[in-house]
Amino acid sequence: MADIHSWLVTGAAGFIGSNFVHYWCTRYPDDRVVVLDALTYAGNRNSLTALEAHENFSFVQGDITDQALVEALLRDHQLDGIVNFAAESHVDRSITGPDAFISTNIVGTHRLLEAARKVWVTEGRAAGHRFHQVSTDEVYGSLGNDDPPFTEEHPYLPNSPYAASKASADHLVRAYQETFGLRTSISNCSNNYGPYQFPEKLIALTICNLVRGKALPIYGTGMNIRDWLFVDDHCRGIDRVLRAGKTGRTYNIGGGTEMTNIGLVQRLCELADQVIGESAELQARYPDAPASKGRTSASLIEYVSDRPGHDWRYAIDISRIDQELGYQPLTDLDRGLELTLNWYLNNDQWWQAVMDGSYQQWIDSQYTAGR
Ligand code: NAD
Ligand code: DAU
Repeated sequence: MADIHSWLVTGAAGFIGSNFVHYWCTRYPDDRVVVLDALTYAGNRNSLTALEAHENFSFVQGDITDQALVEALLRDHQLDGIVNFAAESHVDRSITGPDAFISTNIVGTHRLLEAARKVWVTEGRAAGHRFHQVSTDEVYGSLGNDDPPFTEEHPYLPNSPYAASKASADHLVRAYQETFGLRTSISNCSNNYGPYQFPEKLIALTICNLVRGKALPIYGTGMNIRDWLFVDDHCRGIDRVLRAGKTGRTYNIGGGTEMTNIGLVQRLCELADQVIGESAELQARYPDAPASKGRTSASLIEYVSDRPGHDWRYAIDISRIDQELGYQPLTDLDRGLELTLNWYLNNDQWWQAVMDGSYQQWIDSQYTAGR
């Protein structure tokens, strides 16, 4: 790949994008990074505070569907790489309101592709450019317990509006490579967890609920399986793809850590009981946590009705990225959960701020009243 040192990173006020720009600006401090984010409910400027003083970092509030804005950013900042994290990302929201998923995930990706084609290919401003699409394993559909993990050759069989919108975007990215010669790559990743994750996803929600003594909702039987990856390892995987991956190629990224949802939540509950149980300071800060009252966090688990179209199992085969790019995840689940729990315990201002107001009303209507 040509040397690219100036990037447009979209959606980087969200969970993975913010971790990615922290990672990138630390590792490659001379690269220029322009973040474009619409600051939807899932976007948070506070997740980028530490980067505000970085001389090669800048933030632009705007929408990826605004093609004129994207073109101007590519020209004005002479950017020759795009990493597209911007998306509506929560499966449950795609069931209650799919429109935003079509707009951002499909139309938005298309507008980004068109802007890149116009500036980089038609105007010839960046011969060695790269458009990288951050995608998901959910495009492959659902596995049974005995099925082999998803490879990059697995057919696309998306089951939720979210997964279908991400699959559509992947197809558009591929088509722009094949038809217009745009230099692209795609990574399809499994479930991420770690700092700065909006507390609507299983691990972040479990932590933020248990410290407040609130119910821990488990959908259906709790036996659905996900493959968990600590977010830093996802960032490292994207780094490998951007630095050494072939253009026009797709790479799976995963943790190789399959867990049932109930097994994962129980493990997190035990960890929280231990960490909070050993700290008088945490017990004073979180008086409603069961561990502060001599009870177990697992007592908060409540089985609720299942998610419609709930995928049973995801598992990722990372042979390609391992063999071609030398990638392996570094953080095992125990260590990753400990890092994540500690981050949320020490950053309650961050998650308290995102959990009030309209978000809290939405989540209450979904879970407390049953579905
Ligand atoms: P997130 O919901 O935490 O963040 C999404 C970000 O995109 C937010 O900052 C939001 O403000 C921004 N955004 C939304 N619509 C926008 C628009 N129209 N224009 C500009 N910005 C917009 O998402 P995440 O969990 O960090 O996921 C990031 C990407 O990674 C997504 O593309 C998602 O599909 C993919 N992915 C996520 C996971 C996961 O486990 N979270 C796993 C695999 C792949
Ligand atoms: O696999 C990658 C995908 O992982 C990403 O593409 C998505 O953006 C991301 O949101 C995630 O999707 P999931 O639907 O797997 O993640 P979520 O955290 O919403 O749910 C994980 C599992 O836990 C799933 O089987 C549903 C279940 N669940 C979730 C919540 C929020 C519960 O049982 N209770 C809950 O409260």
